[in-house]
Amino acid sequence: MQDASSIVVLTGAGVSAESGVPTFRDVQEGLWARYDPAELATPEAYSRDPELVARWYDWRRTLCSKASPNPAHLALSWLERFSRENGHRFNLVTQNVDRLHHAAGSTGILELHGTLWIWRCLRCAEEREERVVPFTEYPPRCSCGGLRRPGVVWFGEALPEGILEATNQAASECDLFLSVGTSAVVYPAAGLAHSARRRGARIAEINAQPTPLSPLTHWSLQGNCGEILPELLHQAFGYAPA
Ligand code: APR
Repeated sequence: MQDASSIVVLTGAGVSAESGVPTFRDVQEGLWARYDPAELATPEAYSRDPELVARWYDWRRTLCSKASPNPAHLALSWLERFSRENGHRFNLVTQNVDRLHHAAGSTGILELHGTLWIWRCLRCAEEREERVVPFTEYPPRCSCGGLRRPGVVWFGEALPEGILEATNQAASECDLFLSVGTSAVVYPAAGLAHSARRRGARIAEINAQPTPLSPLTHWSLQGNCGEILPELLHQAFGYAPA
């Protein structure tokens, strides 16, 4: 880390786990226990039952509205500032839709899978930030009368082009690629570390359990990222959380 002059960090749901946001592959709780998230997060599911899908996303919005950034989010926001102050490049790429990195003060975040907080009209394409929870109608409607959908990328949908391009560019130029709290199974995000490695970057991973990426990493640290990341930054740069 001390030698790196261009860092890319890729985060996944594990980064928000210690904030109380359940990961996608966790068992769902309560009302939603009988649904498979992978079957709700598709355009087909929304076409079939927009009310059900909107209610599920509203439940997730409500959960996220109560969550705060944890030490992992805060450490990454600090690392961004520290890197830039030292003339180094830093890019944070996230698969998370909760915007807890924003809440922690990170900037320029490349949101590969969109966000829960912006909803888009299917008729007029207007995008609007929706911070008030819960909704009062399912799915919410636009003023033009069209149905609105969450601004997230569903399974089977293309990733936002500009963001993917910027991400690929950053991954191809970095000398340290850090994968944090992601099962590294959903492409194209999972392929970023591979392309960074092919171009000579060092690859590190912090995750609660081994992932398909682990054998390809130079360092694979197993445990909670809310503990490991601050400790790593402390040892490398003297970071002391506020
Ligand atoms: N610290 C570090 N890792 C953790 C922690 C923690 N506190 N808690 C959980 N993890 C790990 C889990 O072991 C798991 O490997 O985080 C990983 C989370 O994996 P997923 O739930 O698969 O999340 P993610 O990799 O972000 O999923 C990718 O797939 O579900 C879709 O679109 C959704 O963006 C998501 C994408």
